Amino acid sequence: MSAIPRSGIRDFFDIVQSMKDVISLGVGEPDFVTPWHIREAAIYALERGKTGYTSNLGLLTLREAIAISVHKHFNVAYDPVREILIGVGVSETMDLAFRAIIDRGDEIIYHEPCYVSYSPGIALAHGVPVAVSCRPENAFSVTAAAVEKAVTPKTKAVVLNFPTNPTGGTMSRAELEKIATVVKRHNLLVITDEIYSELTFEGEHVSIASLPGMKERTIFLHGFSKAYAMTGFRIGYACGPAAVIDAMMRIHQYSMLCASIISQEAALEAIQHGEADTVEMREQYRMRRNFIVSAFNEMGLPCHLPRGSFYAFPCIQSTGLNSKDFARRLLEAEKVACVPGSAFGPTGEGYLRCCFATALDRIEVAMERMSRFVKQVRAQ
Ligand SMILES: Cc1ncc(COP(=O)(O)O)c(C=O)c1O
Repeated sequence: MSAIPRSGIRDFFDIVQSMKDVISLGVGEPDFVTPWHIREAAIYALERGKTGYTSNLGLLTLREAIAISVHKHFNVAYDPVREILIGVGVSETMDLAFRAIIDRGDEIIYHEPCYVSYSPGIALAHGVPVAVSCRPENAFSVTAAAVEKAVTPKTKAVVLNFPTNPTGGTMSRAELEKIATVVKRHNLLVITDEIYSELTFEGEHVSIASLPGMKERTIFLHGFSKAYAMTGFRIGYACGPAAVIDAMMRIHQYSMLCASIISQEAALEAIQHGEADTVEMREQYRMRRNFIVSAFNEMGLPCHLPRGSFYAFPCIQSTGLNSKDFARRLLEAEKVACVPGSAFGPTGEGYLRCCFATALDRIEVAMERMSRFVKQVRAQ
C-alpha cells in the first residue's frame, strides 16, 4: 500500500469542500438529481419491503433488462443467467475483473491520461500497469500501433475507456478493429469501461465487444452513475464469458455479497424507462460543452472538442504553470475548482480537467473568472 498514492482528485476536493462560494468543475458527477421516476422506484421498493439480499449475480429481472439493453445499444448478446454480474458501480466490477484475470506479474496495458483507478487497481491485484499515451493530435484516441508496441510476452489484457475520462476521447470503428486484430494476434483479453457511452455527442459509439471474435475475450463494463445521474445508487455491471463472470462472482460473493436491492430496483426502472432522461441530459451537456470549449480557446487555452463524456481538457502549458500550481492558484485567486491533469497520469501534465456537468450559468461565471486569472498570470 505504501507504493499506492492517494487519489489526486479526492485530496484536492477535500480542500474545496472546506472553502465557501467555490464553483466546482471538479468531481465527475452529474449535477442533475436522479430522475424522479427512478427515485420513486427506489421508494416503492422500500414500501414493498424489498430490503433483503439478492442473488450474488444481482436480480435476474435486472440482468434480463441489461441483456436486452446491451444487445440493443451495443449489438452484443449476453446470457443474463451466466454472462452478467451486477456489482457496486463500475468501480467494483473493474476491481473484480482485475482480481479475476491477473496473475502476479501480468502486464496490463491501459491508455493515459486515464481514470484514476486503473493503475492502482492493477497494482492491487499484483499486476504491472503499462501506460500507452494518447495525444491531442489524435483527439486523445489510442492507436493500435501504440498498443502493439507495448505488448510483451507478459501482457495479459488491455483496458479501454471510450469516451475517455478525462479527455473526452472517442474511437472510430476502424481503429477499434485494428486494436481487435492486435488483441487477437497476441491472445489477450480486453476490459472495456464504457460508462460514458450514452454521452457520445458525435459519431457512433462502437463497443469492441461487438467486433468479430471479441465477445469471448472481452469483459464489458457499464453502469448507471453517469447516464442516469445515479452515482449514489452504486450500480454497475459486467458482461463477459461465463467462466470469467463466474470467477468475478466468487470474489464478489465473498467480499460484497450483492449490490443493494433498493438500488437494483431503481436501476431496473432506469434501464427500462429512463432513455428519454438520458437523451435530455446529453443535450444539456452538449450545449455546455460547446460553450466551455469555445471559452477556453478564446482565452488562449487550446482545447480540443471532446466527442464524448462530460469533461473538457484544455492545455494550460502557455501559462508557464504546471497543472497542480495552475489549479491551486486558480482556486485561491478565483474560487474555481478544476482537477490538475497530472492526477490522470504523467501524460496529463500541462492540462486541466474541467467537468461541464454543472449548470450553464455557473460555467459562464467560472469562465469569466478563469479568463481573468489567465490574463493575470500572463501579465506577471
Ligand atoms: C471511466 C470511469 N470508470 C468508472 C467510474 C466509476 O463509476 P461508478 O460510479 O459506476 O463506480 C468512473 C467515475 O468517475 C469513471 O470516470
